[in-house]
Amino acid sequence: MNKKICLTGIQPTGHPHLGNYIGAMKPAIQLSGTTDSECYYFIADYHALIGVHDAKTLQENNYQVAASWIACGLDTSKATLYLQSQIPEVFELQWILTCFTPKGLMNRAHAYKAKIQLNNAEKRDQDFDVNMGLFSYPILMAADILFLGAHTVPIGSDQVQHVEIARDIASHFNFKYGDILTLPEFKLNTNSTPIPGLDGRKMSKSYNNHIPIFIEEKKLRKMIMKIKTDSKAPEEPKEPKGIIFDLYSKFSNEEEIDQLKKLYSNGISWGDAKQLLFEKINAEVSPMREKYQELIENPALIDRVLLEGTEIVRLKARKLLDEIRAAVGVKLKQR
Ligand code: TRP
Repeated sequence: MNKKICLTGIQPTGHPHLGNYIGAMKPAIQLSGTTDSECYYFIADYHALIGVHDAKTLQENNYQVAASWIACGLDTSKATLYLQSQIPEVFELQWILTCFTPKGLMNRAHAYKAKIQLNNAEKRDQDFDVNMGLFSYPILMAADILFLGAHTVPIGSDQVQHVEIARDIASHFNFKYGDILTLPEFKLNTNSTPIPGLDGRKMSKSYNNHIPIFIEEKKLRKMIMKIKTDSKAPEEPKEPKGIIFDLYSKFSNEEEIDQLKKLYSNGISWGDAKQLLFEKINAEVSPMREKYQELIENPALIDRVLLEGTEIVRLKARKLLDEIRAAVGVKLKQR
């Protein structure tokens, strides 16, 4: 049986939060444990370079994200974890694809378009603070996906346009040279409700309502205890909804959710409900917290994983790259 190649990129934005964990990391980790997919997960550090121009920050973010994935349970013998910047084949393919990308397609890409709109609204030059990295962002992402022949790309809804652009670019290329590039399909990470943050809106760093995965136990408890609740008396029945209930559900199976529902309808104090939520989350994250600490204090362990990943990926990429080089006519005749 031919396994499906499943690939996704992770922005190195430092410490991930519980929303990232439940929405993206946990499903990706589970997927890597299945037998019908071959998974590649990489840290998109050259995408981050578009906006992060501080070496120490970029490097720390890379290590924090790599350590987070391993600590959260990614088994790197089942999924290949690597750093985008270590794979020269990606950047060679990016140039080739750049030559098959209509400029108009890039004008319509949402990250660039949003920046232009903002500049216009602020009555600045429309290209103020736009570097060519931002403009070409989707071409690099297409190269990330196409260089390994990925079939499935798990993503959040904000990345759908980018995967569609990758398909478009691949089609332009294939139209000219034959079916060399695999047309990828996206797979949306969360089809259910978003993970609520501490204020009830979707958990996000930009709302500052997030709970970092590896936050100390005491701080985790404090954050949860601070969640706002209504003034219902402890024994009053409560509706099975709201931040505490929803967050609890994200960490529970059906049976556990039913139990909490019962407690709510019998009347449970908000303090007790928060304590249950804290215990639930803490039970899942505390082994991960320890593992994270161990890794971040031993960067050599992380390096080893990333170097192994680099080797696997480069070996796999070379064959397709050779084929692409031959197709466009840059391959030496004797090689
Ligand atoms: N652009 C993605 C994000 O912001 C990260 C990314 C880079 C990616 N390259 C990719 C995702 C390739 C999937 C496939 O989240």
